[in-house]
Amino acid sequence: MKKFYITTPLYYVNDIPHLGHSYTTIAADVLARYKKSKGEDVYFLTGSDEHGQKVWKAAENAGKTPKQFVDEIVGRFKSAWDKLNIKYDQFIRTTDEIHVKTVQEIFSKLLKQGDIYKGEYSGWYCMPCESFWSEAGPCPDCGRPTEIIKEETYYFKQSKYQAQLLKHIESNPDFIKPDSRRNEITQFIKQGLKDLSVTRTAFPWGVVVSEDPKHIVYVWFDALINYISAVKNNNIWPADVHLMGKEIVRFHAITWPCMLIALNLPLPKKIFGHGWWTVEGKKMSKSKGNVVDPVALAEKYGVDAVRYFVLREVPFGLDGDFSMASFIARYNADLANDLGNLLSRTLTMVEKYFDSKIPNTKNKIPDDLSKNLVELTNGAPTEVDFCMAQLAFSDALSVVFKLISEANVYIEKEAPWAIAKNGDKEKLAAVLYNLCDVLKIAAILLSPAIPESTEKIWRQLNLPVSLEAAAKDPFGIEIAGVEVKKGEILFPKIQK
Ligand code: MSP
Repeated sequence: MKKFYITTPLYYVNDIPHLGHSYTTIAADVLARYKKSKGEDVYFLTGSDEHGQKVWKAAENAGKTPKQFVDEIVGRFKSAWDKLNIKYDQFIRTTDEIHVKTVQEIFSKLLKQGDIYKGEYSGWYCMPCESFWSEAGPCPDCGRPTEIIKEETYYFKQSKYQAQLLKHIESNPDFIKPDSRRNEITQFIKQGLKDLSVTRTAFPWGVVVSEDPKHIVYVWFDALINYISAVKNNNIWPADVHLMGKEIVRFHAITWPCMLIALNLPLPKKIFGHGWWTVEGKKMSKSKGNVVDPVALAEKYGVDAVRYFVLREVPFGLDGDFSMASFIARYNADLANDLGNLLSRTLTMVEKYFDSKIPNTKNKIPDDLSKNLVELTNGAPTEVDFCMAQLAFSDALSVVFKLISEANVYIEKEAPWAIAKNGDKEKLAAVLYNLCDVLKIAAILLSPAIPESTEKIWRQLNLPVSLEAAAKDPFGIEIAGVEVKKGEILFPKIQK
């Protein structure tokens, strides 16, 4: 079975990770966990983009050598990913020997076959984006000032592959997603692709061109190659999905495929560009002092609160806005009230009325309310699969939270305490069984997104198989008769 290969961008290590970096990485982690829960063999790659002028400058400003500097920041990224419960299979660094060698080999091959040629670059450069622009003025991507540069350079002949690339995009509608990004890229290519300058001489921090050592490889040309250098020894290329923010789709959907076509390698199956987070309506930036630190948030409110918020709040692909008010509102409404309460109310009643054992009954659907809830429960896994196939994380979560909220309504309407008073043990058993079944399915379906909390739910339900095993066959486990172990409050309410 081929591994399902998922990647994030390699983050520049000029500064510590913020909410934006975490967003892509959390999404990749949730997708990887979801695929694994379905029994697929997954490979999840992330890492660091360590070369280039921006990192070089940041090291200089910090009074450190570039290598010393990146080593420290890489440590911060890795520890952030640990704290956010990100389980990647590999963390590649563009300073890794195998990567550097692969970049040099690829450069030499393309040079030899005439796809890279020597020339001179004269134009503008945006250092924060590490991108070249042919027109003067602020950077069209980030709006910051560009600088003029005039350097001897080597060019990659991407113009040669324009027609082939366009044909591929047109005949593979799922190659670039969402469709808005695909349309932007198609328009851009149709305006005509220019060859890309792929070496620099103005500073020394990069992969040295073996044939002409005063040149170093352009940081994007270097970094894109990671997706194949990382898996050189396990033969799992092509990637099934490259996840990234919308601002770097252009490099991934144009330069990268042109490089792969030139190398006679298959193209990635999907390139997905998600939206950008602003903070209270403003662009997140160090100078504005509004950079959101996901690790601090996770330490204060729990890792799952952060993971849940970023994926539920905004449809994947659209821009979103972060504020403490919206973070707290969503946490309190969905996690504390809906999910947390459902667990504690249900288990309290199982304890009280059935001596902590999940009851059984011949008739699990004694009325229409039960019929509705059981149908929702049974339909939820298929609905979640449908959403996840489109990377619609928010919709997938909303399917489960709709079920949870219906279950809370079911409690209010059935009023088990009143049924108990009337002495209808059979119906009481059915109602509590159905509620426990909702908790079981919800825990399974939410486990990729909020793994720490679903493990806690699972321990309280005390089912005899692991959550991981249950995910492979959600309806195959018998819950009746299991003795639940009510425990701690899952999501204590945040007082504003
Ligand atoms: N080094 C390049 C990528 C090379 S991949 C071969 C790069 N690095 S980056 O550090 O700038 O990270 C960019 C990624 O961070 C974006 O693609 C996106 O995943 C994420 N984000 C950074 N800021 C963001 C927001 N404000 N909002 C959402 N995500 C953004 O580009």
